[in-house]
Amino acid sequence: MALTVRALESRDIPAIIEIQDSCFEAAQWSEPTYRRLGHAGEKAWLAEQNGNVAGFLVARVVATEMEILNLAVRASLRRQGIAAALLHDALLFAVQAGAHRAFLEVRCSNTAAREFYQAHGFSSAGSRRNYYRDPDEDALIFSRALDGV
Ligand SMILES: CC(C)(COP(=O)(O)OP(=O)(O)OC[C@H]1O[C@@H](n2cnc3c(N)ncnc32)[C@H](O)[C@@H]1OP(=O)(O)O)[C@@H](O)C(=O)NCCC(=O)NCCS
Repeated sequence: MALTVRALESRDIPAIIEIQDSCFEAAQWSEPTYRRLGHAGEKAWLAEQNGNVAGFLVARVVATEMEILNLAVRASLRRQGIAAALLHDALLFAVQAGAHRAFLEVRCSNTAAREFYQAHGFSSAGSRRNYYRDPDEDALIFSRALDGV
């Protein structure tokens, strides 16, 4: 199994929208939103397994904080370390860009993502009531220090 992580390119957008469309837990963004990535300091990574698009992660570093804005892995390829590989590259980039802390929001019911982030040193840092729509749900805020990445 050859897994590679590289910068997202515009030719990858149809494939990541296909992954996003199949998981409601991911942020549901339009194609123009993906095309504009980078204009507000966002950076995006793509994971490929044997040349096929397997997952993606979008993050932004503002001053000393990194925010993970979107992350999804193709359902048939989960629990093989693909999100971990994406997160690894994103956290390294954030440290090099001067970030000291990483943040993200996750649906309360999203056990897989909560377990994933906890396994990577994140812990709960509060909640946002009624943050999500379709379905309506609270968000948990997760955060971790970036020392030791
Ligand atoms: C969360 C998500 C990105 C994880 O991707 P992944 O490639 O499967 O994750 P990895 O293989 O790198 O990590 C697996 C680890 O994460 C945790 N995990 C992942 N899925 C899990 C599940 N269904 N139940 C419990 N723990 C889970 C476990 O710690 C697991 O380790 P283990 O397999 O040794 O038990 C993936 O489930 C996904 O795309 N979900 C839908 C979109 C989403 O929720 N995005 C996050 C929004 S903030």
